[in-house]
Amino acid sequence: MKIIDGKAIAVELREELKKKIAEKTQKPGLAVVIVGEDPASRIYVRNKIKACGELGIRSFSYELPATATQAEVENLLDELAINQEVNGILLQLPLPKHLDAESACKHIPVAKDVDGFSEENLGLLCLNKAKITACTPSGVMQLLKKSGVDVCGKHAVVLGRSATVGKPMAMLLLNANATVTVCHSKTQNLAEICRQADILISAIGKAKFVTADMVKQDAVVVDIGMNRDQDGKLCGDVDFENVKDKASLITPVPGGVGPMTITMLMYNTYFATYKE
Ligand code: GUN
Repeated sequence: MKIIDGKAIAVELREELKKKIAEKTQKPGLAVVIVGEDPASRIYVRNKIKACGELGIRSFSYELPATATQAEVENLLDELAINQEVNGILLQLPLPKHLDAESACKHIPVAKDVDGFSEENLGLLCLNKAKITACTPSGVMQLLKKSGVDVCGKHAVVLGRSATVGKPMAMLLLNANATVTVCHSKTQNLAEICRQADILISAIGKAKFVTADMVKQDAVVVDIGMNRDQDGKLCGDVDFENVKDKASLITPVPGGVGPMTITMLMYNTYFATYKE
């Protein structure tokens, strides 16, 4: 078993990007919008802004109160859409319950959609023509690549079908010629399907859901989950302690996929700025 060190890979990729940005006279600009007080979201946003500073990306931070109306959120996004200094717009999700995220996201122009959540960017991904892809799934592809995993022809099983993680993850794997099975809450014989996976990727948000009996000997296991266990400790979807000896490669939580998400956001912001 070998642990995939997401932090080290993220550092390496960020160093490369930092050099590329240093060569540019006009620096990329990322607007980060947060609505409300969700503590996890506030930490994510803080880390995104910090990463911008480290890489030479200008960040513009907007905090709206939890009581903000749909129109207030959308008006801000409309302003950012035409602001020449802003190359990328990130609306941190989830939004407070009374707000419609899908409708709000439509106010982010496709060219500034650094999350890759827009209908057009998701559609392009399905056609294998995507330029900007959701950060977490593209971070997983980078982790696999940097760890020497060739997905071509392999059976990849994705747990979860969200539009932001599971679906784009499945599409990226399919575009890379993996044979892909997507499992979800209605899937029958889930454990049996998982056992057939050469590459098992979990994005369901259930603490320690993937147990050792669900993993094929020497499978590659990628854990996208971010959960708290009974003791309030951060943990993934995978029962790491018991699965690690069965897997040939495995990502830990924290320190696996997490650091890659922000790294890919920085790459998407670079792309949104220079189209390269
Ligand atoms: N909330 C959790 N992850 C993400 C992400 O990647 N992008 C946005 N916008 N919100 C999130």
